[in-house]
Amino acid sequence: MSKTDDVGKAFDFRLFKRIFAHTKPYRGIFWLVALVAILSAAFAIGIPILVKNIINDSLESKDGQQLLTAVMWMLIFLLGQVITQLLFNYYANLLGEAVIRDIRIRLFEKMTSFKMTYFDNSSIGVLVTRAVADMQRIGEIFSQGFFMIVADVLKMISAAIIMIVINWKLALIVFAILPVILIATRLFQQAMKVAFIEVRAQVANLNSFVQERIAGMKIVQLFNREEIEKEKFRVINEKHQNAWLKTVWYNSIFFPVAEISNSIGIGLVVYFGVVQNIENVSLDNKGAIVAFFFLMDLLFRPLRQIADKFNTLQMGMVAANRVFKILDTDSHIADEGSLERKDVKGDIEFKDVRFSYVKDEEVLHGISFQVKAGETVAIVGATGAGKSTIINLLNRFYEIDSGHILVDGIDIKEYTLRSLRSHIAIVLQDVFLFADTIAHNISLRDESITTEQIEDAAKQIGVHEFISSLPGGYQYNVKERGTMLSSGQRQLIAFLRAYVSNPSILILDEATSSVDTYSEQLIQQATDKITEGRTSIIIAHRLATIKKADKIIVMDEGKIIEVGTHKELLKKGGYYNDLYTAQFMAEEVA
Ligand SMILES: Nc1ncnc2c1ncn2[C@@H]1O[C@H](COP(=O)(O)OP(=O)(O)OP(=O)(O)O)[C@@H](O)[C@H]1O
Ligand SMILES: [Mg+2]
Repeated sequence: MSKTDDVGKAFDFRLFKRIFAHTKPYRGIFWLVALVAILSAAFAIGIPILVKNIINDSLESKDGQQLLTAVMWMLIFLLGQVITQLLFNYYANLLGEAVIRDIRIRLFEKMTSFKMTYFDNSSIGVLVTRAVADMQRIGEIFSQGFFMIVADVLKMISAAIIMIVINWKLALIVFAILPVILIATRLFQQAMKVAFIEVRAQVANLNSFVQERIAGMKIVQLFNREEIEKEKFRVINEKHQNAWLKTVWYNSIFFPVAEISNSIGIGLVVYFGVVQNIENVSLDNKGAIVAFFFLMDLLFRPLRQIADKFNTLQMGMVAANRVFKILDTDSHIADEGSLERKDVKGDIEFKDVRFSYVKDEEVLHGISFQVKAGETVAIVGATGAGKSTIINLLNRFYEIDSGHILVDGIDIKEYTLRSLRSHIAIVLQDVFLFADTIAHNISLRDESITTEQIEDAAKQIGVHEFISSLPGGYQYNVKERGTMLSSGQRQLIAFLRAYVSNPSILILDEATSSVDTYSEQLIQQATDKITEGRTSIIIAHRLATIKKADKIIVMDEGKIIEVGTHKELLKKGGYYNDLYTAQFMAEEVA
C-alpha cells in the first residue's frame, strides 16, 4: 500500500459518481436513506426549540394542559429521532451491503477471466484484500460516510441559524469558540491519518507473516525455527502495538480537549447571557439559555466527528479506486474464436511454437510435434525443460509468441475458449482440491454429473474401493487443498475428475513425487483406463507409462531433441538412452 493511496487528494468527483452509479438499482432505498437522514436532523433540531418553549411559555403560564401538549410534542420528536435513526442505520447499511455485494460479484467474475500471467504477477494477499477488506470500506461510504455527513452538515447549519434567530449576540459568542475546535480537530485528524497509515502497514505485516508461517508450518517445525520465528513475530507485534497505542494516545488527548471547549461554551453562554444579561435574556427568556446548551451540542459534536466521517468517506473512495482499477484491467485471453464443436476427434499439432512467460526470456524455442487422435504421447525431459509449459499452452492459459497450435487441424484461437477447454481435461502436477467433499471435488458441482456416474467412473478406473474406505466415502470432506489425503490419493481424485468430464483430449502431468507401491499400482491402472480411446499427452515420470506410449517426445531446454518409441530411442543411444540408464534402469531391474 503506497502512501499516496491513503493521503487524501482533492475530492475526486468522477470516482464519487462512479461509486454512486452502483446505487442505481436501489434508487428507492437511496432516497429513503436520504430522507430519514434529513428527518433525523430535523427532529434533533426541533428538540431545543421545544425545550425553549416549554421553559418560557408552558412553565411560566402554569397551564397544565399546555404543558402536557408541549411534553407530548417533545415525546413525538424524541420518538421521531429514535425511529429515523433506526431506519437510517438499517437502510444505510443495507444500501452499502447491496452495493458492495454487486461490486464484489463483478470483481470475482473479472478475476476469474484473467489470464494466468496476471496471477503470476499478483500477490494473492493483495487480491484477497481487494475482495474483502476494501469492499467493506466501500460499504462504509454509505453506512458511515456520505449520508451522515449530509445529516451532520444540515444539523450544524440549522443549529447555527436557530442560535442566531434566538439571540444573535449569544450566537456570535458561541461561534467564537468554533476556530478552537476546528483547529484542534484538524490537528487531531492529521495526526490520526499518519498513525492509521502506520497501523494499516503493521496489520498487513502481521497478516502476511501469520499467513505464510501457517502455510509453511512444516518447514518452521522441521528446521526448528520456532524460537526464531517467535522472536520475529514478537518484533512485528510490538510495532503493531505501538502503532495502535499512538492512535489511542491521540484520542485520549483530543476528546477531553473537545469536551473542555464544550464546557467553555456553556460557561460563556451563562456568563454573557445570565450575568451580563445581554438583551434581558436571563429574566424573561431562561428557555433560550437552556436551548443554547442543546444547540451548542448539536453544533460542536458533529463538527468534531465530521472529519472522521469525511475520512471514512475518503478511505472508502481510495478502496473503491483500487477495486475499480482491477475492474478496469484488461488482462484476459482474447476469446475471439467463434467455433463451437460438440465433438472433436483429438488430433493435436504444435507448429514451431515459441513462448515466453516473461518478455525476452523465451522458454520454448520452436516446438513442433503431432499427436494423432487416440494416440498416447509421453513427454520426458529434465526438470525445467518446458514440459508443463506445453500443456499450459494447449488450453490457452497463456498466449504463444509465435507459431500455431491446432486441434483437429484448426487453430485453437478459432475455438471459443469454453468449447476448446470443454474437450480437454488436465490432471496437473500439483493436484488442487477444494475444501469440499470428494464427490463435489470430482463433479466440480456440475449438476449434470450424478452420484451414480461418479461411482461408476470410480469403479471403472479402480478407485471406488479406496474412496469407499474413507470415512463418509464420497461425502468425505478433504479440507483445504485436500490436506486430509496423501498426494497419491489426491492424484487419483484428480484422475476421476478428468475421467467423468469425458474429454477427447487428456493431459496428465505426472507428479514427480514418488508414491507408495499400492497407490502407484492404482495410479498406473487408472492411467491405463483413462487414456483408453482418447488422445493423451502424458508428461511422464514413470517408466511404465513411458514404455506404453505410442510415441515419446524428449525435451531439453525448451527444445524437442528426440522423438520415437521406447525401443527406437534406446537403439539410437542418445539423450533418452542416457536418461533411461540414469533414472530407470534400477527401477526396471527391481
Ligand atoms: N509462471 C511462470 N512464470 C515464469 N516462468 C515460468 C513459469 N512457469 C515456468 N516457468 C519457467 O519456464 C521453464 C519451464 O518450466 P516448466 O514448468 O515447463 O518445466 P517442466 O519441464 O514442467 O519441469 P518439471 O519436470 O520440473 O515439472 C522453467 O525455466 C521455469 O522457470
Ligand atoms: Mg512440470
